[in-house]
Amino acid sequence: MAPTAETDCVTRWLFSPEAALLFAMRDSYLDEFFTFLRFASVSTDAAYKGKLVECANWLAEKLNKIGLEAQLVATPGHPVVWAKNKHQPGRKTVMIYGHYDVQPPDPLELWESPPFEPVLKNDYVFARGSTDNKGQILSHILGIQETIAEKGELPVNLHLIVEGEEEIGSGSLPGFLQKNRESLGCDVVVVSDTGMVARGIPTLSYGLRGVTACEVKVTAAQMDLHSGVFGGAVANPITALARLLATLHDDDGQIAIQGFYNDVKPLEDWEREAWRKLPIDADKMILDETQAPELFGEKGYSTLERLWARPTAEINGIGGGYQGQGTKTVIASHAMAKLTFRLVPNQDGEKILQLVHNHLEKHLPPGVTLEIIDGHSGPWYLTDPHSAFGEAVQRALKEAFGKEVALIREGGSIPIVSQFRDILGVETLLLGLALHDCRAHSPNENFPLENLENGIRMNKAILEEIGSAQRE
Ligand code: BES
Ligand code: MN
Repeated sequence: MAPTAETDCVTRWLFSPEAALLFAMRDSYLDEFFTFLRFASVSTDAAYKGKLVECANWLAEKLNKIGLEAQLVATPGHPVVWAKNKHQPGRKTVMIYGHYDVQPPDPLELWESPPFEPVLKNDYVFARGSTDNKGQILSHILGIQETIAEKGELPVNLHLIVEGEEEIGSGSLPGFLQKNRESLGCDVVVVSDTGMVARGIPTLSYGLRGVTACEVKVTAAQMDLHSGVFGGAVANPITALARLLATLHDDDGQIAIQGFYNDVKPLEDWEREAWRKLPIDADKMILDETQAPELFGEKGYSTLERLWARPTAEINGIGGGYQGQGTKTVIASHAMAKLTFRLVPNQDGEKILQLVHNHLEKHLPPGVTLEIIDGHSGPWYLTDPHSAFGEAVQRALKEAFGKEVALIREGGSIPIVSQFRDILGVETLLLGLALHDCRAHSPNENFPLENLENGIRMNKAILEEIGSAQRE
């Protein structure tokens, strides 16, 4: 094909020194991303403890190499990586927070490629943690690296905190924040661990749901029993548990725990209006992605309202009795279930757990005993997207993505965010890069390279915007 003016120009550009530099840079970014993803940093399982330490060490080394001062801080759990630049008086101080721990990769057989051997397919990187949260936090790190390389320094004072226990409730981080409260003084926190409302649409999330957990155990006999010899004489704990769990909701999907909704703050009119106008068809997106036969949830609310502003009661796991091949005529001694409750403003985790205890005790079928073990608890978060910093990052997002910013709340939880407010006295801006089909917490998690680049641009624009705001 004879070169046209256009192809000629592209050819010349492709072989230019600038392009070579750009491609070389991208290659090194991908290399580093893959190295980061190869650490199996599964925080919930003690067998991986060493992997978390290795991952944290690699991060600290990387951060030192780009010109920050990084250290590993030991905690009762997994170490915290803390890096900063040289702080100068008169500049705004920004904390960027993320996590290097990941959810377990199970079930392994559903992965198309092994979870800790990242692969690039059609410009998407597949690996556990690729979106949640390694890709997102790495894009900030690479943005910082580029700014330091281009300008010699950052336009703000920076604290970069990357922890290893987010996926298990951030148990050690409040202690770290308390202990270093003075040194960690900052004006605002930036977190990319939430979603984008749709691909290419910059998104500022101004709310998160909270979460509180418990485990329920129902016991009848002290040992498994022959169902012919004892069936009809002793209660079956699996039946009892099934009946008990069925009392959590009514037929319309409302939670039937007395007092559960008492403190729920009704949605603001402006939010209902704004969410209706978002440029997405949430119902279709969820049906397409989940392949569920239809949507289901509390009556009287749209899907987005149910996801972002209404609480839920979920049974995350249930077990008991014989689950092997064939049949076994047995009455199990006990049955168990794991429950979590997503909470919204102004529900209180402790109070909700108390209501749950009351409910379960009251509705316990006869013939069994009940044991409840409380789990982790993390509060909801709600902030003002129109604060001075909120407006500054909206300008930065618009610049980095070239599109109007969507203002949303989120259904997920990042428990530490409310502690940034309580302990450090600062608000958090949630600027997520997760796509709705990223498969976080699920097999074949993925992150598009496009968002690694978007994240780099976003980081540079945010720091620039916050840095220049103070000079005005
Ligand atoms: N990145 C998520 C939180 C998230 C997900 C926010 C989707 C917004 C949209 C985070 O890593 C996470 O999964 N958190 C846990 C917290 C829990 C283990 C205490 C969650 O929400 O289940
Ligand atoms: Mn996460």
